[in-house]
Amino acid sequence: MNEIWTEKYRPKTLDEVVGQKSITDRLKGYVEAKNMSHLMFAGSPGTGKTTCALALARSMYGDSWRGNFIELNASDDRGIDVVRGKIKDFARTAPVDGAEFKIIFLDESDALTNDAQGALRRTMEKYSKTCRFILSCNYSSKIIDPIQSRCAVFRFRPLSNEDIREYLERICKEENLEVEEGALDALVYIARGDMRRAVNTLQTADSLGVPISVDVISKVSGSANEEEIMGILTSALAGRFTEASSKLDKVMIDYGLSGQDIIRQMHSQIFKLSVDTESKVKLIDKTGEIEFRIIEGSNEKIQLEALLAYMVLIGEKN
Ligand SMILES: Nc1ncnc2c1ncn2[C@@H]1O[C@H](COP(=O)(O)OP(=O)(O)OP(=O)(O)O)[C@@H](O)[C@H]1O
Ligand SMILES: [Mg+2]
Repeated sequence: MNEIWTEKYRPKTLDEVVGQKSITDRLKGYVEAKNMSHLMFAGSPGTGKTTCALALARSMYGDSWRGNFIELNASDDRGIDVVRGKIKDFARTAPVDGAEFKIIFLDESDALTNDAQGALRRTMEKYSKTCRFILSCNYSSKIIDPIQSRCAVFRFRPLSNEDIREYLERICKEENLEVEEGALDALVYIARGDMRRAVNTLQTADSLGVPISVDVISKVSGSANEEEIMGILTSALAGRFTEASSKLDKVMIDYGLSGQDIIRQMHSQIFKLSVDTESKVKLIDKTGEIEFRIIEGSNEKIQLEALLAYMVLIGEKN
């Protein structure tokens, strides 16, 4: 079977990590000092949290990193007690190869209830002589203060379009992919800062065995391409409601997109519309309201058409 590209191309060293320079610089400082506090890696998916933790362990411990590093998932479905048991087992034995401490990387820490976090805090204290924790989460605000204050916090930003593009270009070259004009732009667009999504979509597209085009990317990613979404919005702004509505139908059917997917894609395009700022603000406000209604269970099609109708009115004023 083919190797999974997110693993095959996952950076092995801190220097290879893309676009998180201030973070990797600080982490290299720990490696030099051969010491660190507990860390918290917060940020959206696919931005390098697990990657940095693994690279840190590699450069901290060299070849014996596996003996001094463990990766656990806080939301293990067998329960937090299983996780705590594993932490205990790992923490009980001394670090190998003369290292001062081991590293426990705990993914999805924000999935823990407050009670479980309280217990985690005690565990962190109990083993702090021999273990450092790296807690990974999407939202640091979901982590209780006593844990946050024990950690140095690192915020992982969504990756820039340029960084994602460069990385994809490298993979395309290594894998000898045939990529058509615009396909990489489409990939970068649907990735929205998430490198994992970008790479996985590219691999899925490649598995179809045809040249990688904008169309292929849209199909495999289950998201409409930027132009199609823009097309709906500009038709509505130009007062062509029926046209906008049938374009909307096409996108919903062709890609099987939910109302929530579409409203989010529309939201990210509003800033690019050629209308005045006041109109943009009104549109953003309206989009928020419609998204809420869709989430609450209103009919998606009616809500999205209501937004298009509103855009027609805005278009008349511009
Ligand atoms: N900054 C980056 N530089 C290079 N590759 C990256 C970067 N971030 C992510 N990737 C790629 O995306 C894949 C997933 O990244 P990683 O596992 O580090 O994400 P994460 O931030 O831990 O996400 P999650 O919140 O879902 O756990 C990696 O295998 C790697 O191929
Ligand atoms: Mg991760």
